[in-house]
Amino acid sequence: DWTSDVFIDITIDELKQTLGDDKVVMGLSGGVDSSVAATLIHRAIGENLTCVFVDNGLLRKSEFEEVLESYKGLGLNVIGVDAKAKFYAALAGISDPEGKRKAIGRTFIEVFDEEASKITGVKWLGQGTIYPDVIESVSVNGPSATIKSHHNVGGLPDFMKLKVVEPLKTLFKDGVREVGRALEIPENIIGRHPFPGPGLAIRILGDITPEKVQTLQEVDAIFIQGLRDHGLYDEVWQAGAILLPVQSVGVMGDERTYERVVALRAVSSVDGMTADWVHLPYEFLGKVSNDIINKVKGVNRVVYDISSKPPATIEWE
Ligand code: XMP
Repeated sequence: DWTSDVFIDITIDELKQTLGDDKVVMGLSGGVDSSVAATLIHRAIGENLTCVFVDNGLLRKSEFEEVLESYKGLGLNVIGVDAKAKFYAALAGISDPEGKRKAIGRTFIEVFDEEASKITGVKWLGQGTIYPDVIESVSVNGPSATIKSHHNVGGLPDFMKLKVVEPLKTLFKDGVREVGRALEIPENIIGRHPFPGPGLAIRILGDITPEKVQTLQEVDAIFIQGLRDHGLYDEVWQAGAILLPVQSVGVMGDERTYERVVALRAVSSVDGMTADWVHLPYEFLGKVSNDIINKVKGVNRVVYDISSKPPATIEWE
């Protein structure tokens, strides 16, 4: 009979045995998985775990600062790295979704490696890989086709020569959340929607510029805060906004405008492998749409995505 307390005891024992007095480095993403994995490893080996949290300039508005505070509150030894400029430089001019993922993956490894190499004698890399990451990567990255390369799986470069420790590899998302709650990780981390590693880069169709990121951050913040204010956040598995490479005509006062279109997406799911669009109330959608158009400069139209997975995917890229 599976309980999170049993899972936690067994996992911490195993981690202690496997890791001994070795040092571990781990990248945190702000998400549930890496936070729970880090907390388990920290319970097992304490200060021998060093965490690295990278600001890639593709996070949600204010996410970096807020999440860094939560990590410090958990007692984790965490280094925050501002690498925004590096990521924007690596992404400049790239429009292809897989090209973006590769540029982001490569840059992340560079930044992470630089931090990891400052820790003397580190032997292990901690990862928050969960079961669906493992199967989706295996099944879609076959010889025939790569649907989306999940850069956080198997992307370890040879030069790092680190062994990998993945304490959540057998769990689904709801199991991870149960374990996280049993570990008393705060609800603002545990209840957080999944967020892709490449972040807002795969929600900006076309090339990435800091201005587009900022526009999307404002739109996304209004949508997500709206979900919270209307008690809808926990009803939704994942939500976000997409900046389309499309301009449309509008009016403001007596002026004709020609500005951007954003799409809102909210889905229900169990593990991200299949998903349905959420029937958000029309009143809510209307209010959020008004707020976005009134408050975010350069956006004059909002649409709602009503596609399910399959055949669509959750992200647009
Ligand atoms: P899709 O778009 O494939 O997304 O239906 C399924 C889930 O995976 C997330 N996702 C990613 N996560 N790196 C990640 O870490 C990625 O490249 C990536 N692409 C999609 C997506 O947000 C959803 O939760």
